[in-house]
Amino acid sequence: MTLKPATALAHPNIAFIKYWGNRDNDLRLPSNSSISMNLDGLFTRTTVTFSASFKTDSLRIGKKSIPGSGLGRVNDILDLVRELAGISEPAEVVSENNFPSSAGVASSAAAFAALALAASHAAGVTLTEHELSRLARRGSGSACRSIPGGFVEWHAGIEEADSFATSIAPPEHWDLVDCVAIVSAVRKKTGSTEGHAVAATSPLQAARVADAPRRLDLVRQAVLERDFDTLATVAELDSDMMHAIMMTSNPGLFYWQPASITIMESVRDWRASGIPVFYTVDAGPNIHVICPQQQAQSVERRVRELPGVNDVLVANSGGPAQIVS
Ligand code: DP6
Repeated sequence: MTLKPATALAHPNIAFIKYWGNRDNDLRLPSNSSISMNLDGLFTRTTVTFSASFKTDSLRIGKKSIPGSGLGRVNDILDLVRELAGISEPAEVVSENNFPSSAGVASSAAAFAALALAASHAAGVTLTEHELSRLARRGSGSACRSIPGGFVEWHAGIEEADSFATSIAPPEHWDLVDCVAIVSAVRKKTGSTEGHAVAATSPLQAARVADAPRRLDLVRQAVLERDFDTLATVAELDSDMMHAIMMTSNPGLFYWQPASITIMESVRDWRASGIPVFYTVDAGPNIHVICPQQQAQSVERRVRELPGVNDVLVANSGGPAQIVS
């Protein structure tokens, strides 16, 4: 039997309070809750078809066919969906990003959010937003935050059933812009999954996790009140704390390059001179420079002029994952 194909679209997200380290690596139950903003304009579009005529699951990303052995996490999500739907048909997954997957914009977040939505739809199961967020989380933790729209909190939860993300505010609540400074498009040496697994080896991780509820309260409130100064101060602190964990774990992970530091220093100088702007950095050398829409053009221009910046991707706050066909 061939079930009706489904296509879903999801945006990546940028975290203001970061996810780094799991209590349970297999289930992706995080050590702390996190808060992010979806990125409009950037997206992954994924079509899933289940059919008895396929011999095995297959995956194509853009023009590239990924061999069976590379399906790993995609396979796990398809198995979870088949179990939920009570079907056994293999699936064909065809996916494309409209941004470079190695640009340091978390492509796995958009990818697994789109996959969870398209696969469950194609299998004929209707999931609530919470259930979809949990399913996406199993593929990539940060993907659970790309299911709801706008400004989103991933509640760490105690067990599998209560670790999912919900929206704090819709995209139109606050016209923040992310100017992503691309310093390097080279694929990172150590991916997030390996990084999470060693986070607890840093003697600083316990302190970071213990202080997370305080930072989460500040950032949640700052988002609700559109308090840019508080968001800027706490999000920068949170990003620096995560990188301190990365650098001091075993093995130590250094993601910054000289140009990354130049950008961070410049952003701090600009803010000191009165421009509302802050940085946050994921597991790579590229720097997310965040500001209100009003300053976006001039901030983008300033970032482009910095040495070592190859390109700047610009994104507003984006909506939820959606079925598009
Ligand atoms: C630094 O969600 O990519 O971007 O669950 O192993 O797929 P996996 O990790 P992932 O980790 C994201 C880490 C981060 C911070 C964040 O987005 O919160």
